[in-house]
Amino acid sequence: MIKTRVIETNEGIQNEITVETFDLFARRMRDKGFNGVNDMIASGIRGGDILEVGPGPGYVGLELAKKVHPISLTGCEISPAMIHFAEKNAAEYRISARYVLGNCIAMPFENESFDTVISNGSLHEWENPIRAFDEIYRVLRPGGRYCITDLRRDVNPLIRTMVYLSTRPTEMRPGLITSLNAAYTVSEITELLRHSSLHQATAIGDFFGLCITGQK
Ligand SMILES: C[S@@+](CC[C@H](N)C(=O)[O-])C[C@H]1O[C@@H](n2cnc3c(N)ncnc32)[C@H](O)[C@@H]1O
Repeated sequence: MIKTRVIETNEGIQNEITVETFDLFARRMRDKGFNGVNDMIASGIRGGDILEVGPGPGYVGLELAKKVHPISLTGCEISPAMIHFAEKNAAEYRISARYVLGNCIAMPFENESFDTVISNGSLHEWENPIRAFDEIYRVLRPGGRYCITDLRRDVNPLIRTMVYLSTRPTEMRPGLITSLNAAYTVSEITELLRHSSLHQATAIGDFFGLCITGQK
């Protein structure tokens, strides 16, 4: 039996010290290649003007940019502390990314501003995923592609334990559990998508997460 979803937060991680720990965690995920970038490319994600929703410290969009050489990379992030790290990391990558403070349920962008929208590990924190999906549709240009990856709550308990024990820094482990408890199952997300402008999206589960892809 899958446990009921437990909401985590809709404010993102705001505290600088917590963000510093998250940055170390995300950097480690990047170094191991566990950040969804290859799945995004395999799903048909290319360059153009890219928007990353909930970039956190920015590694996912920056790694994607390194591979697809977009025209531009913009992040919409709710946490000022995360933006601070993302800007620092973009400078390290020598990529001129722009990180904008905003909530994905009401993004500060004109209609049809982007060719591509990506997001990793953020969906389970959105207070209203249907509104966020509508926003992603609104800011995409016709023909634009999106790829949203996240954890999934119905992951095999053995895999859950293995990932928990390999999570470093160890201070991230409690957060991994609350994030997993807040994550959706593939069938829940399919139902939410059906009620949004992304109703033609495909949602699939893999060994630890879920991946939503489609084209406007
Ligand atoms: C778990 S982190 C993932 C960060 C990064 N995408 C990664 O894969 O390493 C989730 C990020 O989403 C951001 N976030 C949460 N809710 C958001 C919202 N409503 N709008 C924009 N960003 C949001 C958080 O502040 C945080 O930076």
